[in-house]
Amino acid sequence: MAKKPKILAFAGSLREHSFNKRVLRVAIAGARAAGADVTELDLRDYPMPLYNADEHAKNGFDANAARFQQTLSEHDGLLIATPEYNGSVPGGLKNAIDWASRKSDKFGMVEVFKGKTAAMITASPGAFGGLRCLAHLRGVLSIMLVNVLPMEIAVTFVADKFQADAEEMTDEKTKKILEDLGAQLAEMLKKTGVEASAAGE
Ligand code: FNR
Repeated sequence: MAKKPKILAFAGSLREHSFNKRVLRVAIAGARAAGADVTELDLRDYPMPLYNADEHAKNGFDANAARFQQTLSEHDGLLIATPEYNGSVPGGLKNAIDWASRKSDKFGMVEVFKGKTAAMITASPGAFGGLRCLAHLRGVLSIMLVNVLPMEIAVTFVADKFQADAEEMTDEKTKKILEDLGAQLAEMLKKTGVEASAAGE
């Protein structure tokens, strides 16, 4: 029997009332409704130094980076919602990905990313919804051999889709699109999981 797909969901924003965190939770609900087991992680709980290969060689693998890497290794899929910073991926998110991609005592280079399936979302108060950062994130994930779903979502004018800092998304149409992406990721993982177990057993 196919196992329940495990998805790790996180936002590229460290802000407490981040729009991207709230948008991510809508997609998480969709993934759970489709049968996935989803862990939501907050990058604020994994503060890491800026990656410096000299410091890494001298001090070893950062403890929080190691925890992040371990958690990544325990999941089949990634659900990422990130803001766009100056047309690209926020430095904090890129730094966490860079750390986790490095060889540690436990994992090889890009081992915890390789072969995973990911879905990407971005949200911005602006008219482009952060769309430009998704091409960059897709490139980063692809080079680490992550299969990124063709469907991606940019939530435009996101501040109009929530009441102040409230959790509930008020725009039903956008909510449905986000839930569908979460479900699509879960379904893809179920399908590839079934194929993998059928081939391996
Ligand atoms: C931004 N913001 C932004 N928005 C956008 O649509 N395109 C951009 O290139 C940028 N650049 C940018 C750079 C930096 C350094 C900051 C802090 C912000 C605005 C951004 O979309 C807005 O602050 C969002 O609310 C951030 O997402 P969270 O934190 O609410 O998830």
